[in-house]
Amino acid sequence: MIVIKLGGSVISNKNKPFSFNENIVKQIASEIKKFYPEKNFLLVHGGGSFGHPLAKKYEIRKGMNGIKRMIGFSKTHEAMLELNKKIVNIFLEKNLPVFSISTSSIFLMDNGKMHGNVSIIKELLNLEFIPILFGDVVLTRDKGIDILSGDKIISHVAKKIEAEKVIFLMDVDGIYNKNPSEKDAELIDEIDRSIQFKSTTGKFDVTGGIENKLKEAFKLHCPVYFINGMVKGNLTKAIEGRKIGTRIKQ
Ligand code: ADP
Ligand code: IPE
Repeated sequence: MIVIKLGGSVISNKNKPFSFNENIVKQIASEIKKFYPEKNFLLVHGGGSFGHPLAKKYEIRKGMNGIKRMIGFSKTHEAMLELNKKIVNIFLEKNLPVFSISTSSIFLMDNGKMHGNVSIIKELLNLEFIPILFGDVVLTRDKGIDILSGDKIISHVAKKIEAEKVIFLMDVDGIYNKNPSEKDAELIDEIDRSIQFKSTTGKFDVTGGIENKLKEAFKLHCPVYFINGMVKGNLTKAIEGRKIGTRIKQ
């Protein structure tokens, strides 16, 4: 079973609130269709231009603080449901049996640690559904409310469901030695878990950008790919285990 993260930077333009890259999602669904049902998949998508601007506006990461923030918590979740529905519809139109699970309904946080049961996900996978989760708002035992990133969901779930591979779809060709917007940035072929990493985060990103993505990815014990999800054929290569993007050194 292969876990795929549809990064918010791929499915939307993070700098343009409520934008949706319909054609890219269609292309991703078509590539997955070539392998299903011989291979099973679990999908997790990010918040992109739907989740991040609202999470930021209502300062959800600061925890509970009156009704205004509670409204924001709910609005952020609704925006994620809206984005999720757009993605789900594309997969269903391609005859791929995705089934959406609201992350905030099955997981709780406690001081940064995720709690929750993956039995529904496992059961869906056993039946050859393609479960689809998403970065979402989340209830926490310490500060009441928070945001849970798709990358953290993956590091928590992948081990429990014995993922054979995790593929992170991004809007750049993989992990670079520095921010890829810098002229002399170089793509890293194979990244070592011991690497010290510092980089800048986009102004709409409330979940820590690339640094947190790597922190979560380094917790995985299966092959991990970071590839450009905007380029047709890349996902196929990663599913087939060919050389593409950045891989984590085993
Ligand atoms: P996603 O939304 O796909 O989950 P993020 O937006 O959190 O991913 O991270 C991807 C973005 O991180 C890219 O658009 C890229 O511009 C930026 N970035 C910053 N530093 C790096 C780096 N060293 N390597 C790759 N991407 C980086
Ligand atoms: C964020 O999820 C979810 C919300 C902001 C509600 P991610 O952190 O996984 O989103 P992307 O991939 O960076 O957009």
